[in-house]
Amino acid sequence: MKALILAGGRGTRLRPLTYTTAKQLIPVANKAIINFVLEQVSSAGIKDIGIIISPETGGYIKEALGDGSRWGAEISYILQEKPGGLAHAVITARNFLGDSSFLMFLGDNLIQGGVGALVREFSAGHSDSIIQLKKVKDPRQFGVAILGSRQEVLKLVEKPQEPLSDLALVGIYLFNPAIHAAIDKIKPSWRGELEITDAIQQMVDTGGRVEARLLEGWWLDTGKKDDILEANRVVLDEYAVRRVGGSVDTASEISGRVDIASGAVITNSVIRGPVVIGENAAVINSFVGPYTAIGKSTILEKVGVEHSVVLENCRLSGVERIEDSLIGGNTRVSHADAGRHACRLFVGDDTEIIL
Ligand code: TTP
Repeated sequence: MKALILAGGRGTRLRPLTYTTAKQLIPVANKAIINFVLEQVSSAGIKDIGIIISPETGGYIKEALGDGSRWGAEISYILQEKPGGLAHAVITARNFLGDSSFLMFLGDNLIQGGVGALVREFSAGHSDSIIQLKKVKDPRQFGVAILGSRQEVLKLVEKPQEPLSDLALVGIYLFNPAIHAAIDKIKPSWRGELEITDAIQQMVDTGGRVEARLLEGWWLDTGKKDDILEANRVVLDEYAVRRVGGSVDTASEISGRVDIASGAVITNSVIRGPVVIGENAAVINSFVGPYTAIGKSTILEKVGVEHSVVLENCRLSGVERIEDSLIGGNTRVSHADAGRHACRLFVGDDTEIIL
């Protein structure tokens, strides 16, 4: 069994951050999303991992992940010249995949509990594919599946206008090599992409055995700003621990699960977890509220911030309330006078904002 992790794509919905990084490298709880994916894949026992990269952001991904030895795995990088769709990514990886069965995992998706059970089930069974489904409130923005009475997959529909089903396809799939012949038969969709849903439908229509599993736990698909904040919230909720690696002065008050990395300095501040504070960050005369991740070497001074992700090397000062914000690296946000209003920010790397 191999794994194919998709880390190409354009990431247009996360611009401007994706001008200078890959969206799969945006951190939640101070760890790149694709690192969680690699942990889940390797702990399912898969060590032969192909990663689809794009010409624009592939260099960042390679630099961040290396050869895979950190996860006891071997990573092969596969360049997809254009984001031609998920099925196109599988075509691009054909040499790597050979005649192996594989787990396909979108590099910006995460699920609760990992993929070990699913991989074991697929390896032990006889189906051509297993797809994961999750009940969602608004199925119109997803690929959805319609199931028969025995939970078998009858039909897949991309972004249905009519709510035919509320079971969305999670970005995690298992395939045997029959998927390649199915992909060879499909045509690009109206958006010009080779859709994996069309290839799976092709398998169903030609008598292939496609099974569905319902995911009960959380599913995070981090394509947009609010998705990143939600992922940060969920991951902090689940994984944050109380750990004080840096220094906290006696005037500061730390409550709940607050993870302060080494070299970080907290001075005369209040921090309410779950929160993570990166290495060498400084929090001075500030309030950091729940569900916030502060990146390495970021400095907060006279700031209130909560439910936000602040990347590395930022300097935020004099802003009374920052909330629901995703702030790219090396950003400066400051306030000429003491501010009274909440700010909602979505700004890219290398930005300066004076409010
Ligand atoms: P999407 O989020 O559907 O597409 P995108 O990354 O181009 O983003 P946007 O719509 O904001 O422009 O892709 C899901 C995942 O699959 C993501 O991790 C990128 C990856 N991907 C590829 O590797 N190759 C592709 O051809 C496509 C379409 C996506």
